[in-house]
Amino acid sequence: MNRFTENWTPLLLQWYDKHKRDLPWRTESPRDPYKVWVSEIMLQQTRVEAVKAYYINWMEHFPDIPSLAAAEEDEVVRQWQGLGYYSRARNLHTAVREVMETYGGKIPETREEIRKLKGIGDYTAGAILSMAYGKRETAVDGNVLRVFARIYNIGENILSAKVKKEITELVKARQDAARPGDFNEALMDLGATVCIPGQPRCDVCPLADVCLAKKAGKETEIPLRVTKKEVPVEPVTVFVVRAGEFYLLHRRPSKGLLAGMWEFPNCVGEGEQGKEALTADLSAIGVRAEEVSGPVKQIRHVFSHKIWNMNIYEAEAAGTHEKESSPEAGCALTKSAVEPEAVLPSGWRWVSATELTDYNMAGPHNRILRDMNELTTK
Ligand code: ADE
Repeated sequence: MNRFTENWTPLLLQWYDKHKRDLPWRTESPRDPYKVWVSEIMLQQTRVEAVKAYYINWMEHFPDIPSLAAAEEDEVVRQWQGLGYYSRARNLHTAVREVMETYGGKIPETREEIRKLKGIGDYTAGAILSMAYGKRETAVDGNVLRVFARIYNIGENILSAKVKKEITELVKARQDAARPGDFNEALMDLGATVCIPGQPRCDVCPLADVCLAKKAGKETEIPLRVTKKEVPVEPVTVFVVRAGEFYLLHRRPSKGLLAGMWEFPNCVGEGEQGKEALTADLSAIGVRAEEVSGPVKQIRHVFSHKIWNMNIYEAEAAGTHEKESSPEAGCALTKSAVEPEAVLPSGWRWVSATELTDYNMAGPHNRILRDMNELTTK
């Protein structure tokens, strides 16, 4: 048997029949979809043990959809008090009212419709449809990802969309046609009590003999969970400064990010502050930026370690007093007077429009250039 055909589902269900946890939302058969819904929403960010008492209390106050739909929001939030993440309660309340108005008080039976209800995502939809309606729908949460990553020895990041999709397909293939809800809950119980994070309890696992991670000695290494690290967002103000047919470019330092590449004048900062700072920087090299307009464009450029949020403005350079008072330090700015490289500090250059494409522009600045070209050739 290969990893896709080995049928371990009966082993899991036999184990579940014997060891399933005794939980207040599991007492009825068939299950009431409203009760499955409430318990799943409560369980989203709260531990099973903590949810039990809240669930029982909730059902005393709001035993069914009409009673919850008729309740005042204040009362709904009061009964949720202590569970935290109150948007869960508000969304549930809104969605229950929608079930009354749109579906005559009956929770819809298709994934497509049920997903439209506020606060119901893929996981909750699958849980309600399988547990209450007996539909062959998956409910893949963190427990299920861990259990499947181990059974099939999947060493890739379980938080990636690709692995989640792959595991969802495997769950579908293994799901019991007659007991899809029990299958989903059996996986949850196995994940919560046996195939636990860190050191799994393989000695009592019904699937130990089919588990490929165990076979490979990797049961403590799997699953791999790599969260995307937060990268800082840096606001950047950019001026495309023109003097006649010339544009002002700056060469980045020879070391570091985008080393040695060319860019339009820019500084870290945004809004009026960014514009003022950049105007001052340019003034320090003898360039007076005027008639700043925009932002004409916004670019979000993602590096591995930071993000540039760039606001691009257009500016005209005015050559006035610098030229008159200190011709060698300032810069000649009328179309006829601009002398590329003549009067700017090193690393700065006036470049004619036709020569811009010869310059090795730093990534996002190349995008600015491309857009400028598009505009001028239109
Ligand atoms: N966690 C999320 N849903 C659950 C359920 N139905 N039973 C046990 N634990 C759960």
